[in-house]
Amino acid sequence: MFLSHNEVMKQSTPPLSEPERQGVWQMFDRIAGRYDFLNHTLSMGIDLRWRRRLAEMLPPHPELKVLDLATGTADVPLAFCQHNGDVAQVTGMDLAEQMLGQGRKKISAAGLEQRIQLQTGDAMQVPAEDNSVDAVTISFGIRNVPDLDQTLREMQRVLKPGGYGLVLEFSTPEIPGFKQGYLLYLRHILPQLGALVSGDAYAYRYLNQTIESFPYGQDFCDRMLAAGFSDVLAEEQTGGIATIYRGIKPHQDSAPIAS
Ligand SMILES: C[S@@+](CC[C@H](N)C(=O)[O-])C[C@H]1O[C@@H](n2cnc3c(N)ncnc32)[C@H](O)[C@@H]1O
Repeated sequence: MFLSHNEVMKQSTPPLSEPERQGVWQMFDRIAGRYDFLNHTLSMGIDLRWRRRLAEMLPPHPELKVLDLATGTADVPLAFCQHNGDVAQVTGMDLAEQMLGQGRKKISAAGLEQRIQLQTGDAMQVPAEDNSVDAVTISFGIRNVPDLDQTLREMQRVLKPGGYGLVLEFSTPEIPGFKQGYLLYLRHILPQLGALVSGDAYAYRYLNQTIESFPYGQDFCDRMLAAGFSDVLAEEQTGGIATIYRGIKPHQDSAPIAS
């Protein structure tokens, strides 16, 4: 069902020359060996709870076939198999081979090779057929692609009608006091701590800049609606530090009739 990355590259001209896009996934390749440690340490383990919640928000059907974009080191596919018994198959896709390599080791250590497959794939040009999966997810990935709307349209395209698109992404808390404290951490503490632990100052400056400028809440819901999702909802996590967005691909007969 899934096309190889090379097959998709042959089918159309990919926007691979964009320096920003190239730089982003290459940056993840650079820090792949330390990514999990950094992630879980700098978030104090809260990110594990968010991925577990994502697993709980998958469609309530048995034998789910799920596609996880920008899968990184496969924490999302692993969380799905560990926390949701309805998940039959997960395919994780990413452009960063080193991140996928780390993920493969974890999948094999968990004995989940039969349920989880990883492959090279661009979230903006997904190598999968239309209407082919029950759920498509992206966790802390959509902020890293050059074209958010194109990625959302791709998510919608590969979903079966009635399937769920789920996005887990950082957002900005609105609670007074908490918001100021969080922004202080994000702007001044995280970049220094991240640079110290990872040895890659750019990665953590990039992180805080992209979090603050990224649409969240109703703005992000509007982007999902524009991409063709219906029943869009946003569920804030941990006071709004992150948000899970869910949209459903409408059945054809419920789409508006053009006059
Ligand atoms: C912050 S990591 C998130 C990894 C994982 N989803 C998680 O929850 O930990 C972002 C990932 O997005 C990937 N990425 C960036 N641009 C991409 C693209 N255009 N297509 C696929 N993956 C991409 C990076 O290589 C990286 O692995």
